Amino acid sequence: MDTYHISGGNRLEGSCRVNGAKNAVLPILAASLMGKGGSRIKNCPGLSDVYAMISILESTGCAIDFKSGIIDISPKNIQNAEISEELMSSLRSSIFLMGPMLAVCGEFTAGYPGGCAIGSRPIDMHIYALRILGAEIEETDGKIRCRSGRLTGGEIKFPAVSVGATENAMMAAALAQGTTVIKNAAREPEIAELERFLNCMGASVKGAGTGTITIEGRKDLQGCEFSVMPDRIEAGTILAAVAATGGEVLLTEAPVREMKNITKVLRKSGCHVHGEGSFIYMKAPKRLRSAGYIETNPYPGFPTDMQSQIMTLMCVSEGSGVICENIFEQRFQTAPYLKKMGADIRIDGKYAFIKGKEKLFGARLRAEDLRGGAALVIAALCAQGESYIENVCLIDRGYDKLDMMLKNLGANIQRIKEE
Ligand code: EPZ
Repeated sequence: MDTYHISGGNRLEGSCRVNGAKNAVLPILAASLMGKGGSRIKNCPGLSDVYAMISILESTGCAIDFKSGIIDISPKNIQNAEISEELMSSLRSSIFLMGPMLAVCGEFTAGYPGGCAIGSRPIDMHIYALRILGAEIEETDGKIRCRSGRLTGGEIKFPAVSVGATENAMMAAALAQGTTVIKNAAREPEIAELERFLNCMGASVKGAGTGTITIEGRKDLQGCEFSVMPDRIEAGTILAAVAATGGEVLLTEAPVREMKNITKVLRKSGCHVHGEGSFIYMKAPKRLRSAGYIETNPYPGFPTDMQSQIMTLMCVSEGSGVICENIFEQRFQTAPYLKKMGADIRIDGKYAFIKGKEKLFGARLRAEDLRGGAALVIAALCAQGESYIENVCLIDRGYDKLDMMLKNLGANIQRIKEE
């Protein structure tokens, strides 16, 4: 597995273009199965999760071409509705095949999805929603076996907010007979992006971004050409890296409106942040102040995918801070590594108590999940001395050449390829 070697202490400055959003392109790729005639999806990031999703779609019989950020997908001869355990377990988003495959083929058999080890990540709400739409679903000997005639619309009332289950329900309902109403729907920007894509294919989806989404099922959908929104978490991660080094940056093609909950925390930490159109300019103070109390919540709350990065900032900020992680039960995996670098962190259940230190010191580290790995990169960039971060493949899941983006801003970072 590849390793990052980082020499800390450089102040990051410059400009950086934000790539297409991982958590938008993955459900959109699954949804494109439902568009007759094929689709062209632009502004796709070169992430290992995107390549993994492409392999899954190809295993159903889709023809896919991915070059220079453009994915051309032709679902015309889907003939296999069974996905291998190996492919399914390679990422969490493999579960997005369930809705579209039931809508298009009336069957779907697969192992369980994978994804970052940040909690148990059950799929009960995905199954609940598709059963409401008429699917018969059994979970036996480690497999999910789904069958249906044409799905029929219904009322789905999620007991808790789930981004993925909301998206699976939207996709399945788009080709169901009749009307579907989804209540307690997730409100993330990527949900609205999926609505835009489905409607671009001729679906009738309304209400994404609110807690209630209404879908009028169609008999069929036509493939379309679509450009994916920028990645708010990648953008937030770059801002956090620049903030940690007391630098300044201009982000271009940033989703300014969708990042209000992130830029608010950076301002609380003492950064000057100005967002206008698709630009965000940020200048960080020489030393950050603690953002105080941060809790992660479903959108428009503070995103759990930025929690690890903010923990790193708090470790080198003036003052103390508290983080409450409300979404995932195991998302403090960076804490032991940050403590190895000299950080003062105490974990108590879903709370992390942090006392800021003047500086951290380079160490041998390891990425245990995608965003935690990015948080360790940020820590190494502002630490004194040399750091090595193993298991970079987990960071590749959600960042397209993160080392190159940071090197362009002045970071001293090398990727060491494993022999
Ligand atoms: C999506 O994961 C994102 N992934 C995650 O980003 C993100 O952290 C998460 O939403 C929350 O915003 C993609 O979009 C590909 P959930 P998802 O269903 O859909 C529980 C990243 O780093 N739950 O909203 O899996 C679940 O265990 C990744 O980019 C059930 O109990 O998240 C969690 O505690 C990490 N039953 C909570 O709900 C279910 O059926 C929220 O999960 C589904 C979820």
